[in-house]
Amino acid sequence: MARTCLAIVLAAGESTRMKSNKSKVLHPIAGRPMIAHVTGMLTDCDVDHVALVVGRDAEKVSEAASLDGLKLSSYTQVERLGTGHAVLAAREAISRGFDDVLVLFGDSPLLTADTLSRAREALTQGVDVAVIGFMTEQPSGYGRLLIENGELLAIREEKDATEDERAIRFCNGGMMAINGAKALEYLDAIGNDNAKGEYYLTDIVEVARQKGGRAVAVEAPEDELAGCNNRAELAYLEKLWQERRRRELMLSGVTMIAPETVFLAWDTVIGQDAVIEPNVVFGPGVTIEPNAIVHAFSHLEGALVRSNASVGPYARLRPGATLGEGAKVGNFCEVKKADIGAGAKVNHLTYIGDAEIGAGANIGAGTITCNYDGVNKHLTKIGANSFIGSNSSLVAPVSIGDGAYVASGSVITKDVEDNALALARARQEVKPGRAAIIRKRIAALKETLKKARAQD
Ligand code: UD1
Ligand code: CA
Repeated sequence: MARTCLAIVLAAGESTRMKSNKSKVLHPIAGRPMIAHVTGMLTDCDVDHVALVVGRDAEKVSEAASLDGLKLSSYTQVERLGTGHAVLAAREAISRGFDDVLVLFGDSPLLTADTLSRAREALTQGVDVAVIGFMTEQPSGYGRLLIENGELLAIREEKDATEDERAIRFCNGGMMAINGAKALEYLDAIGNDNAKGEYYLTDIVEVARQKGGRAVAVEAPEDELAGCNNRAELAYLEKLWQERRRRELMLSGVTMIAPETVFLAWDTVIGQDAVIEPNVVFGPGVTIEPNAIVHAFSHLEGALVRSNASVGPYARLRPGATLGEGAKVGNFCEVKKADIGAGAKVNHLTYIGDAEIGAGANIGAGTITCNYDGVNKHLTKIGANSFIGSNSSLVAPVSIGDGAYVASGSVITKDVEDNALALARARQEVKPGRAAIIRKRIAALKETLKKARAQD
């Protein structure tokens, strides 16, 4: 039978070192609050319930952590008396009785489901406490793992460690899996007789052993355990996250010419054989279908780019932009809340907002949909295979029929029917020979001015 599991996520910290007006777990990594990375990872694990321990910004943190498919309840840690004390804020959840109890940190968003499942695996083999550890060249600040014959004897916080213990490079990542049947008994036995006078969760190892239980360490890559205390670490987490996700996408068949210059959002979806050129930024909500290409220096958010479509260079796709198969949006074009039909082209210096563009339409350089009248936004419809001449303004609400032509420089304020030609600009007048007369006049004027200056 499947084992039941409770995950306790600690997020009650003050975030002092972030120097921020909000809790650090609300700061985004790849456009998603840090805490949601942790609970998002839990949606991939076989977890029955999540107990979120909150302090500062309790409501916002709970809201950000809540995701579809997760049963989550929040517990407030009123006083901040240490990690052991924080876990006990969720006493009610623990006492409901789960086979496995996991403890995670809200400010360590890179932990993977794989590492967690290895820690849980140890519990199934009769271990009572499985601590996630990592090897590091810079152990300073971390609790050290004291190992003997494969068993974890204790975790020593740096402030309480001897010089020999400080030389140990195998460190406590902070997270662990605990035998659910014994969790409360162990946690209640943790005291605060240490350098900081706090209830250390890490003392659970010695407590378990004193009570006849077993503890082990499960090693994970150092990067998975990186935490966030200040903005520099926030940027480092972002970097690690980006590197991990770019690599996953490349291994799934996406070409990135200079991956280190591409910035992904947490939910960016890119299909096989799509090409992402250098310096492309993805905001949340973007899907790039297979074989599409995003040229250099483009910025996309909330957009869908269908197969074989092409974006940029220097294009901006804003929320609600959809490019149909083989459609093109070229340089210095902005598209917002608009469907661009299959094979349609919007190639140069154009703004398309609140619009529907039919398949195969050609939108000339400098075309603007005038979608906003200062109060409301209005829709522009452009028919299939129509041709909009360069530098046209389409004043919405307005509709251009299928196969219609709009002459360059037109200001279109009324609907144009299918296959019609619309001209909405002053008619051209040509005066033969007039240029020569103008030139003569200018020359005479210059001559007069020259003489006048000479007399001065
Ligand atoms: C903790 C570990 C240390 C480990 C390190 C890894 C303890 C005693 N020490 O140290 O061995 O190497 O993590 O990063 O566990 N929190 C609360 N309420 C509290 C205290 C903490 O919610 O009263 C939360 C914090 O917001 C944070 C997490 O628990 O998310 C860890 O607390 P923190 O004070 O950062 O622990 P460290 O000193 O880093
Ligand atoms: Ca920490």
